[in-house]
Amino acid sequence: MKAVRFHEYGDPGVLRYEDVEQPVPAVGEVRIRVAATSFNSVDGNIRGGFMQGPIPVALPHTPGIDVAGTVDALGEGVNGLKAGDDVVGFLPMDGNGAAAEYVLAPAGILAPAPKSVPLADAAALPVVGLTAYQALFDHGRLTAGQRVLINGAGGAVGGYAVQLAKNAGAHVIATASPRSREAVTSAGADDVIDHTTTSVTAVVTEPVDVALNLAPVDPAELAALLPLVRPGGVVVNTTVWMPAPSDEERGVRGIDLFVRSDADQLAQLVALIDRGELRVDVAERVLLAELPALHARAAQGAVHGKVIVVPSAG
Ligand SMILES: NC(=O)c1ccc[n+]([C@@H]2O[C@H](COP(=O)([O-])OP(=O)(O)OC[C@H]3O[C@@H](n4cnc5c(N)ncnc54)[C@H](OP(=O)(O)O)[C@@H]3O)[C@@H](O)[C@H]2O)c1
Repeated sequence: MKAVRFHEYGDPGVLRYEDVEQPVPAVGEVRIRVAATSFNSVDGNIRGGFMQGPIPVALPHTPGIDVAGTVDALGEGVNGLKAGDDVVGFLPMDGNGAAAEYVLAPAGILAPAPKSVPLADAAALPVVGLTAYQALFDHGRLTAGQRVLINGAGGAVGGYAVQLAKNAGAHVIATASPRSREAVTSAGADDVIDHTTTSVTAVVTEPVDVALNLAPVDPAELAALLPLVRPGGVVVNTTVWMPAPSDEERGVRGIDLFVRSDADQLAQLVALIDRGELRVDVAERVLLAELPALHARAAQGAVHGKVIVVPSAG
């Protein structure tokens, strides 16, 4: 089968589109015929060798932690799935990923794929959808009537976060540059602040319950979100190269979020999609053979929104 792999860490040039043996599922695993994976920025960090501590991968390594596809073979001890089932999942980050025609997955991390969007497009959901969900509800404990500030709402996580927060009955304040304004507004943001012209600290005068940072701001800009949060509220940060600020005196918690795979939460997100309550946005679809070029563009900061990667044009 075809796969993209890197045999050593390095810049996007280390990625090779090559022939690889088709993997065989072990106990508890299934093999999935990949409809698509997606690009996540952590893929570039793993390839660059910057994540060897938290995410130790064996070389050669196939990237691609999101998968949407069809179960094609089952290992022993797998119940509740059969060949032909369409599934989505957030794959273990230290195993081989779905930038390939086939990938192995532990059966327990998979959820049924949404029926209302093309199977390949569903690869745009798992990692970023779970990140948004866990940020708002596991960590932010957001409830109806509360106010949430989503900084960096113009990206892939932000699209889901705005929709989920709005669905939950929160008042959503989002920051987005002009290129993302329409997407963030149509996702349901009540107020949109253009971060290229306006500081959130200047315009958010009523405290928020949850501040969610998704933006690659500097530590001072992240710290500036803290006074906007009411006593007892929370700052949740996904850009974990800098710690989330907290304020013990006012009881404002700071949370560094590390997304985790969760099949039940993923199934809930899929149900929202199929009820028409959660939109899946795909910015671009590229062929697997073009993944090295996609990594190169991402390294230049020239990728915006969710890009899915499909094994073949068919
Ligand atoms: N820790 C974890 O487990 C975890 C999981 C998933 C993602 N992440 C991280 O979370 C972040 C968000 O992920 P993503 O997939 O949504 O990334 P993304 O698609 O790159 O979105 C980030 C968005 O931030 C906006 N932005 C850039 N500079 C900004 C600024 N100064 N102020 C406000 N907004 C700004 C940009 O939109 P506009 O310029 O159009 O406004 C950009 O699209 C990334 O850093 C990602 O690596 C972490």
